Order: sequence, then structure tokens, then C-alpha cells
Amino acid sequence: MPGSDRAAPGIHALHGFIGSGKTTFARRLERTLPGLRFSPDEWLVALYGPDLNAEEFPPAFARVMAVIEAQWTRALDLGVPVILDHGFWGRADRDALRAKAAALGVPLTLYALTLPGGEALRRVRVRNAQPGALPISDETFRTFRARFEPLDPDEEAVYVSD
Ligand SMILES: Nc1ncnc2c1ncn2[C@@H]1O[C@H](COP(=O)(O)OP(=O)(O)OP(=O)(O)O)[C@@H](O)[C@H]1O
Ligand SMILES: [Mg+2]
Repeated sequence: MPGSDRAAPGIHALHGFIGSGKTTFARRLERTLPGLRFSPDEWLVALYGPDLNAEEFPPAFARVMAVIEAQWTRALDLGVPVILDHGFWGRADRDALRAKAAALGVPLTLYALTLPGGEALRRVRVRNAQPGALPISDETFRTFRARFEPLDPDEEAVYVSD
């Protein structure tokens, strides 16, 4: 059967804070697997532009995530590995993803990007100046940092470094 020599389709999920290099790594992974990459920021900018305010952002993000999830579950159904470039900041998000993978009966690999905050912020400042970037202010970076829950010791992951 054509395609039967491909790797079993699985979920490849990226965990890491803003600027830690998730999308850069995801772009590499999409070619090496190969797999279909879902980077929510790209969808947000394409659909709504780069300037959503604090009220507009959460509902827009929720819509994007719902559309993306419908696509990646369909891709898995069709035998295509998927790369979820979502960050998975919260333990609860990761627990939900593990439960979802188990329910779908597909393997899940969680990749952890652990760049120190100072260097991540420096890279984000550089990225902000590039076309198509979703701008992240220093204030947003610091505010969101409080929401970031690093992996607990019982959470299996592949640690990624440059
Ligand atoms: N090894 C590296 N050295 C220098 N800059 C890098 C390196 N890897 C990635 N970058 C740059 O750092 C910036 C942040 O990387 P990237 O966009 O991949 O992070 P991210 O985790 O996806 O961020 P976000 O959470 O905002 O989506 C990008 O401009 C990227 O090109
Ligand atoms: Mg990214």
C-alpha cells in the first residue's frame, strides 16, 4: 500500500516559553519527519493582523485553536504526523493533550525548549522588527512569564537545545 513505510502518525508537541525557539525547531521538524506544522501565531496574524488588543486576543486565539484542532485531528486520521507549536505552558494543557493522544490512540512526543528568559527576550526584541512577526512587548513577556509552568519531573520530554 502506498505510504505504508511511513512512520506511525503521532503528535509532536512543543513546550517552551515565548522566544524559546519553538517555531524555529518546528520548521526543522516538519521537514525531518515530515509532518504538518501548526503554529497558531501564523494563523492569528494571517486572519486578524498583528495588532489585536488585550480584549480581542483571547476570543481570536480560541477560534484559531478550535480550527487548528479540527485540522490536526483530521491529519492524524489520514496518517499524517502533526507538529503542535503551541507552547503548552500549563500542566493542565499538557495533561489534556496526553489524554487526547491516548483517546486517539496515537503516540505523543513532547519537546521541551528551555532557553533562559534573558536570551529569549533578546531574541524576541529582534524578531519584533521582522515582517509578519506577532509583536511581543517586554511587558507582555514579563506578564506571561507568571503563567508558564515548567515541566514537572514526572513529565516525559525530549529536551531540545540549539
Ligand atoms: N539559535 C538561535 N540563535 C539566535 N536566534 C535564534 C536562534 N533560534 C531561534 N532564533 C530566533 O529567535 C526568535 C525566537 O524564536 P522562535 O520564533 O522560534 O521562538 P518561539 O518559541 O516560537 O516564540 P513564540 O512563543 O513567541 O512563538 C526568532 O526570531 C528566531 O529566528
Ligand atoms: Mg513561535
